[in-house]
Amino acid sequence: SVVVSAGGTREYLDPVRFLGNRSSGLQGYALARTAAARGAEVTLVAANVSLPDPAGVKVVRVETTAELRDAVVGAAAGADAVVMAAAPADFRPVATSDTKIKKASDGSAPVLELTQNPDILHELSTDRVRPGAVIVGFAAETGDDTGSVLDLGRAKLARKRCDLLVVNDVTGGAVFGSPDNQAVILAADGAAVDVPLGSKADLAHAIWDQVVARMP
Ligand code: CTP
Repeated sequence: SVVVSAGGTREYLDPVRFLGNRSSGLQGYALARTAAARGAEVTLVAANVSLPDPAGVKVVRVETTAELRDAVVGAAAGADAVVMAAAPADFRPVATSDTKIKKASDGSAPVLELTQNPDILHELSTDRVRPGAVIVGFAAETGDDTGSVLDLGRAKLARKRCDLLVVNDVTGGAVFGSPDNQAVILAADGAAVDVPLGSKADLAHAIWDQVVARMP
């Protein structure tokens, strides 16, 4: 029994505008489809994904990070693995207007005050409501002057406390909406598995291989 999250959450400013991100949901859907093909019972928590429901998968549709959190944490209680392939918005507006925000006639723009959203992966990895369940995160990184993509991945794995972290190099925005992906799967036990450029289904299978190897 596994839970996969996919897509990107939206945080509404008013009824028509939101803060969002570029996640297409393709990698999460590939994870759900391959898990079902391998015989798992799959719950897919999908945030704003415009893809058809994969056959044989229970799909729960959400919009915001708070909704994603509630759906994933609820389903995780009975799951042997949770894969956080979604891109939850890290911030949400402090206030959401019930009516459409109008342009001011003096040419000024509104100032948005934001607050941090809960970190779902960190919560799952810290609470460990189901002992032995394998918790997997994703990290889309660009190297910077504080470290390489892999240095940042190792630091994130330790910070998030998950069992596996799938690290993508997104320099140039290449993976978003692309049918292909390339990654390194870092494990808390020190292992690192290089997955060469291939389909998102190929990467999904490589992730499930690492998950299965760590199941009690
Ligand atoms: N994630 C999450 N809850 C959040 C933000 C991220 O569960 N509020 C998960 C994502 O689904 C992903 C992993 O955490 O599996 C890493 O996401 P990322 O955005 O790279 O993490 P951040 O903590 O936001 O790191 P950064 O400071 O680099 O933005």
